[in-house]
Amino acid sequence: MNKNKKVTKAIIPAAGLGTRFLPETKALPKEMLPIVDTPTIQFIVEEAKKSGIKDIIIVIGKGKRSIEDHFDSNPELEANLEAKNKIDMLKSITKTNDMNIYFIRQSHPRGLGDAVYTARSFIGNEPFVVMLGDDVMEDKVPLTKQLMDSFENTGASTLAVKKVPHDQISKYGVIDPTEEVSDGLYNVRKFVEKPSPEDAPSDLAIIGRYLLTPEIFDILENTQKDASGEIQLTDAIDELNQTQRVFAHEFKGKRFDTGNKLTWLETNIVFGLRHPEIADGLRDYIKDLGKKLEKEDSGK
Ligand code: UTP
Repeated sequence: MNKNKKVTKAIIPAAGLGTRFLPETKALPKEMLPIVDTPTIQFIVEEAKKSGIKDIIIVIGKGKRSIEDHFDSNPELEANLEAKNKIDMLKSITKTNDMNIYFIRQSHPRGLGDAVYTARSFIGNEPFVVMLGDDVMEDKVPLTKQLMDSFENTGASTLAVKKVPHDQISKYGVIDPTEEVSDGLYNVRKFVEKPSPEDAPSDLAIIGRYLLTPEIFDILENTQKDASGEIQLTDAIDELNQTQRVFAHEFKGKRFDTGNKLTWLETNIVFGLRHPEIADGLRDYIKDLGKKLEKEDSGK
């Protein structure tokens, strides 16, 4: 029974083309875009660590080498910082050195479902989590741990969902919930990838954390490309839901979407206003900017 199996592995798919950030992503991975001074993918690996995940496989593709370098240890730099007693900086670059991080290549960006399938032999016959780099999550208990706790009770695949504004719904995979079986845990009739607002069965969107049973791989093996030429994980999950239960867990914490220009910039401002080195300067800048903009507006 799945319930008795422990979740110890995570897949982080990072082989997408990142077209929403072109031209930056022509040569640099979007997963390395900083939130103030920290690459977004670092937040994901830290969430995995805090959740008790031991082994991570990052699915990469062309132009993603810097992700490997980022998670490699850098003895020269570490020795240099230590010699100069720059202990905080040293800590910032060694936080996840104790994680087992592996890399695999997805030869063609054939979609999220295909990226997950690439890691099949690494996962084997165990339940696992998929963590997408676009979403930085904040809560007392990390979202991935919330899914793992839920799995200990149900033994079933569980996806994280969150309410999003109705006019945004077509950007997401969406659930058609039946009943709420316990606080924030839903039974699901259907999982639909990017529905139009008129067809969306709810405003509960799949956000970037999934806990899946290994049976998903047999389904992904045969999942056909959709109209856009991609193998969709959501389609495979919908099929899995026909043979075993797949729950949706509503995330009540904060979600920072770093996957598009505007929300990435907003996230940087929020994190900048918390950053001891720059918070005061940034606050003053925003205040002055507000006044300047007001002046400009009144002069129109
Ligand atoms: P997105 O739909 O956000 O695509 O993929 P993207 O390529 O990253 O960005 P845009 O939309 O072109 O700007 C969701 C996640 O799945 C991964 C991406 O790296 C991202 O983490 N992915 C997507 C793959 O690993 N391989 C793929 O073929 C597609």
